[in-house]
Amino acid sequence: MPVITEIEDLKRIYRSRVPKMFFDYCESGSWTEKTFRENVSDFEDLYLRQRVAVDMTGRSTESAMIGQDLSMPVVLAPVGSTGMQWPDGEILACRAAHAFGTQFTLSTMSVCSVEDVAENTDKPFWFQLYVMRDWDFVTRMIERAKEAKCSALVLTLDLQILGQRHKDLKNGLSVPLKPSLGNILDLSTKWSWGQAMLRTKRRTFGNIVGHAKGVSNLSSLSTWAAESFDPSLDWEKVKEIKRLWGGPLILKGILDAEDAKMALNVGADAIIVSNHGGRQLDGALSSIRALPSILDAVGDKVEVHLDSGIRSGQDVLKALALGAKGTYIGRAFVYGLGAMGEKGVTRALEVIHKELDMTMALCGKRRIEELTRDVLLVPEGFGGRWERA
Ligand code: GLV
Repeated sequence: MPVITEIEDLKRIYRSRVPKMFFDYCESGSWTEKTFRENVSDFEDLYLRQRVAVDMTGRSTESAMIGQDLSMPVVLAPVGSTGMQWPDGEILACRAAHAFGTQFTLSTMSVCSVEDVAENTDKPFWFQLYVMRDWDFVTRMIERAKEAKCSALVLTLDLQILGQRHKDLKNGLSVPLKPSLGNILDLSTKWSWGQAMLRTKRRTFGNIVGHAKGVSNLSSLSTWAAESFDPSLDWEKVKEIKRLWGGPLILKGILDAEDAKMALNVGADAIIVSNHGGRQLDGALSSIRALPSILDAVGDKVEVHLDSGIRSGQDVLKALALGAKGTYIGRAFVYGLGAMGEKGVTRALEVIHKELDMTMALCGKRRIEELTRDVLLVPEGFGGRWERA
């Protein structure tokens, strides 16, 4: 087994093990992928201040998000089709997150259903909701998440239509995978994945199939999304969902200060500054660049979290030091899951934890709440100086 010292190591193993179609699904952004790339590269524009002769003993990465205590403020983001990366992937990722003392967010577009994950894990997890045209489905999904004892609802606002990712269309992405010549050739090099997948019965969208009207078999996320996601989702519907849910509500996909103010008005407990990992509006700002203006607008009135682009504990530290209260990793944990199952997710969390902890030490900080802007050297105009219409 190769020595794993960084997230890139997990990605290499993941790539060699999982069918190309599912690797590409994870590793794509929309259109030119500019936003997808800049989510990662913009972190590099932030420098850290090295501080010395500060007692660095007794450090802790413990923190809380929406009042829930975590061993570090890094939650597993909702990722669709995770159970195609490794059999029963959502259950395993949730177990790994809980064992590590952090949290897991189950996607509406997961393979294991919300009931299935609840039955096979010990503690409450978070549930991410997509709003569908079929309002009955939406209300029942909220009830199902309540019955499964989910401890927060993450409502995604940036996917009323699915962004175009060229590779998914070219690969004919489907769940489960359909036999085509290309797929069969690819699978011939991915035997261990194929054999493992044959051992599970969970191979379709568990929250949807048998629950949404007229869906007894669903293979194409993009076709179904195009027909089923609710393009009329607006702030009134967000309020209605908040009322139906009644628990902690996190609004995901906020990239603009004006929308952050709207989220505040509807009474969200937290917002996630996110561009959906660069998978929706290509050409939008990276999350880390969008963060400062959103914090200026609402930062002291609602908890602000960030996803998109985090691949290391240093990235986590930079987001926290700029003012985010918490962060999420999507791809970084999927690389681990696809490489080594539950152990790989644990490894991804360990890598990120170690990087966060060591970086805190070398910056002269011992507690998450001590991570403030003075840890960073932020280039002038980092958040952008834009002409306004
Ligand atoms: C769905 O959430 C996707 O980004 O594919």
